Amino acid sequence: MDKTLKIAPSTDPIKSVHDIVKYAESIKHVADFLHCDIMDGEFVENKTYSYTSLSLINEKTLLPLDVHLMIKNPHKYIDKFLKAGANILTIHYEAYSDKKQLINDLKYIGSTGTLAGLSIKPKTPISEIIPYLSFLDVVLVMSVEPGKSGQPFIDDTYQKVVQLNKIKSDYDVDFLIEVDGGINPTVSQNLKRYGANILVSGSYVYNSENKQEAIKSLR
Ligand code: DX5
Ligand code: ZN
Repeated sequence: MDKTLKIAPSTDPIKSVHDIVKYAESIKHVADFLHCDIMDGEFVENKTYSYTSLSLINEKTLLPLDVHLMIKNPHKYIDKFLKAGANILTIHYEAYSDKKQLINDLKYIGSTGTLAGLSIKPKTPISEIIPYLSFLDVVLVMSVEPGKSGQPFIDDTYQKVVQLNKIKSDYDVDFLIEVDGGINPTVSQNLKRYGANILVSGSYVYNSENKQEAIKSLR
């Protein structure tokens, strides 16, 4: 994927699949991905939708799907989400106690042609995921606690983006840096300067009267 800044509006603020599809349709010419927040009510408190709904969304939108799994035991569901049409499939580092399994899952996702993503919660330091960076395509840095949209951006995230870019050159590994949570035009300009590649936006875009202009304002 080229490295120009990509914008991925998220489905998290929206309650029904029907409205998600309508939203995707209304932003398809200006957004790069539809960021699909999958929550199971266990890994995080809230619950959203699963692979059957994702498959429906995939049938009805042309936007590539950036799927963020905030679920317990992601290993069990990887095939289902791949089949449902994920173009990026992101699993959470904290959801794995067996790190060998984590490596295998990242390798497996990548082998199918879908981009393999690994996400970390705000309290997880970048140093913990260094051993996994050669097995993935995308690092999704959470800039809010996963689980709900509308929270304020955590400033420590900037440092994490800088650190990841330094690691890329120090260790000669390559991946995209995605940031998720609390992003508005000011934050996005900073993240762009620090070298982020994909920005997720939930409430900022969704609550804007002119959603297309809101997306453009994040570039
Ligand atoms: C948070 C989700 C985000 C959320 C972002 O759990 O992973 O994708 O939709 O929403 P905002 O941009 O409102 O923080
Ligand atoms: Zn997300």
